[in-house]
Amino acid sequence: MSHHHDAYDPAQDETETPNLDFQGTTPYEDYVQADVLTHLQHPLSDDPGEMVFLVTTQVMELWFTVIVHEWETAARALRADDLPTALAALRRSTYELESLNASWKPLAHLTPGQFNSYRSALGEGSGFQSAMYRRLEFLLGEKSASMLVPHRGAPRVHAELEKALAEPSLYDEVLRFLARRGCPVPATVLDRDPTQRYQPDPAVEAVWQGIYQEAGAGDTELSRLGEALTEVGELVWRWRNDHLVATRRAMGAKTGTGGSAGVAWLEKRAAKNVFPELWTARSHV
Ligand code: HEM
Repeated sequence: MSHHHDAYDPAQDETETPNLDFQGTTPYEDYVQADVLTHLQHPLSDDPGEMVFLVTTQVMELWFTVIVHEWETAARALRADDLPTALAALRRSTYELESLNASWKPLAHLTPGQFNSYRSALGEGSGFQSAMYRRLEFLLGEKSASMLVPHRGAPRVHAELEKALAEPSLYDEVLRFLARRGCPVPATVLDRDPTQRYQPDPAVEAVWQGIYQEAGAGDTELSRLGEALTEVGELVWRWRNDHLVATRRAMGAKTGTGGSAGVAWLEKRAAKNVFPELWTARSHV
């Protein structure tokens, strides 16, 4: 510490300051690419409120990317019968989903007037066109070839989505894993066409019922897997509902920028159960 009255200058104190001297860009920059990341914000209007709309959307895209990574890790681990690795990835994803959902906060109280200040500048742009969100939905079993159509003009994105459409979903891998563990998952479910939307099956409901029955008040390896997936399902459902309520507040029943009926369309999407049999089986335990 200096004895002078001058302001304390950390750069003068070699014992306490981090390294300041780098040849090129900093190792932080090389790793994080913060300079790239913080120059990707190009609002389309002059409205000062648009920045947080844009950045929240970008932040959510980043969380989608992490969560897709976790679920792909979990699916791969299940394929290799490595339950601990799968559970660890699913658990990480639930904390990430909570952060994702918390990022609705800045957009949860928009008035129609505030949203109108930049809404027309968005043109036909809509989160409906998010390819990373679509991969999330595909991993949950919500497959649909028509969701590739908007991405025809973007070869890399289209190729990634095409691959994701053809691969078994996370839930497909879960059911195959349960079958290898001796659960009576029907062959029609195990051999289903992975490019099609997953349809709930009574025999799969019975499998989950059996797993929860066996666990009783305690837990088993398989019931812990069921609970991890239930948590994921609940948090995805919460994201959809938070999105729905934010939309209702910001634009009422107007048509969406993506061309849908807006709130009415989102209500239908939000009503769907993620991993449906995990919810219905509970009535029979
Ligand atoms: C308050 C601001 C928002 C409003 C008013 C809004 C409105 C809408 C509407 C009306 C739709 C239906 C499709 C359409 O016609 O456009 C939609 C879909 C969607 N939005 Fe938003 N949105 C908002 C914020 C966000 C944010 C921040 C994200 C983050 C990426 C997002 C992601 C999505 C996704 C992924 C869909 C497709 C959902 C699905 O396929 O089920 N939205 N949004």
